[in-house]
Amino acid sequence: MKVLVIGSGAREHALCRSLSLDPDVSALYCAPGNAGIAEVAELHQVDALDGAAVSALAVELGAGLVVVGPEAPLVAGVADAVREAGIPVFGPSKEAAQLEGSKAFAKDVMARAEVPTARSYVCTTPEEAAEALDAFGAPYVVKDDGLAAGKGVVVTSDLDEAKSHAGACERVVIEEFLDGPEVSLFAITDGVTVVPLQPAQDFKRALDGDEGPNTGGMGAYSPLPWADPKLVDEVMETVLQPTVDEMRRRGTPFSGLLYAGLAITSRGVRVIEFNARFGDPETQVVLARLKTPLAGILTAAATGNLADLPPLRWSDEAAVTVVVASHNYPGTPRTGDPITGLDEVAAQDAPHAYVLHAGTRREGDAVVSAGGRVLSVTAVGEDLTEARDRAYRAVARVNLDGSQYRTDIAAKVASGA
Ligand code: AMP
Ligand code: GLY
Repeated sequence: MKVLVIGSGAREHALCRSLSLDPDVSALYCAPGNAGIAEVAELHQVDALDGAAVSALAVELGAGLVVVGPEAPLVAGVADAVREAGIPVFGPSKEAAQLEGSKAFAKDVMARAEVPTARSYVCTTPEEAAEALDAFGAPYVVKDDGLAAGKGVVVTSDLDEAKSHAGACERVVIEEFLDGPEVSLFAITDGVTVVPLQPAQDFKRALDGDEGPNTGGMGAYSPLPWADPKLVDEVMETVLQPTVDEMRRRGTPFSGLLYAGLAITSRGVRVIEFNARFGDPETQVVLARLKTPLAGILTAAATGNLADLPPLRWSDEAAVTVVVASHNYPGTPRTGDPITGLDEVAAQDAPHAYVLHAGTRREGDAVVSAGGRVLSVTAVGEDLTEARDRAYRAVARVNLDGSQYRTDIAAKVASGA
């Protein structure tokens, strides 16, 4: 089977890596890709937001499956364009992607499906926002309704900051603060059948000790030894299946990857957010542990055949990923710096640890930084301690001037605390 992956981040590199190891994949293409993906897939240039261009490329390449990685093309309707060209596509329609594209829409779906989530108000004027903030009290949670590349949510105890974020957005969702550890649970669905993956936890803040600004994610690990073994079943029953059923009932079935961002509160599991795609960096650790070949799973979802898929097989190993970001991330990152040490990681740390590229590009013989999150090092081990040690040993070999990474990814959980 020929597979075309759309996107250029570490998530797409992780997807391409798994697909490249799948014996059913005869050719692997990625557009636009990055310097690391180029080692496992043939790169093509395309505007990922242009559905006509993506479907034309898929037709030209003879792709039997297109995987749309990021949210922006999904919300722009790229999966619809590919589907209309008659090619199986892994990724929801434009309408179904509203589950991520509009927080107000997601809240409405959850209310109808009786999915547990934070109580909330949708506000469009400063007066409404002030009233909602007053109703919930501090800490305040203010969310831009639309896609904001991880920058739309402000959680603060400062009322003025909460009001000013609300004022800067056209439409906001203001909701109650959810206390408790966060879990990311991904599920593959064809719109009817739902197959959960293994849960992971990501680290959203930029600095050690969960300090500093929110980011797209600075690291992740899986499995979660502290989580209730019944967690996945519970989330399937109370969140994932009801949401997929509600989307179908509305006439906008959701197929692809449904990502539930969850808070484990003292009153039970609550949905913080839905995403309509694999999450980054959790994908790196979840796929590192998945033993079932990936192309068959994604194809079953794309063609409505998930009910016939045998149960997924998972490795008993633990996985940890550590993100290396450029100078000044998550502000305006500095780019164009050379990255060295990648060959040493390949020579000394593989196969247990490996680099997945995010914002990188090739300049002559050199690989240089080209974005905020530059790469992530993923490692597996017998337990989280071994996976973490291997990941950090490899991170230490990577050189990028001014770069930063958290030193405490999975530290607490590995120490058993
Ligand atoms: P999101 O962009 O929706 O993933 O939100 C970013 C982060 O904000 C989440 O990972 C949480 O850490 C935090 N957050 C979002 N909603 C809430 C909430 N209702 N209560 C507490 N924290 C939240
Ligand atoms: N890890 C968070 C996200 O992908 O949105």
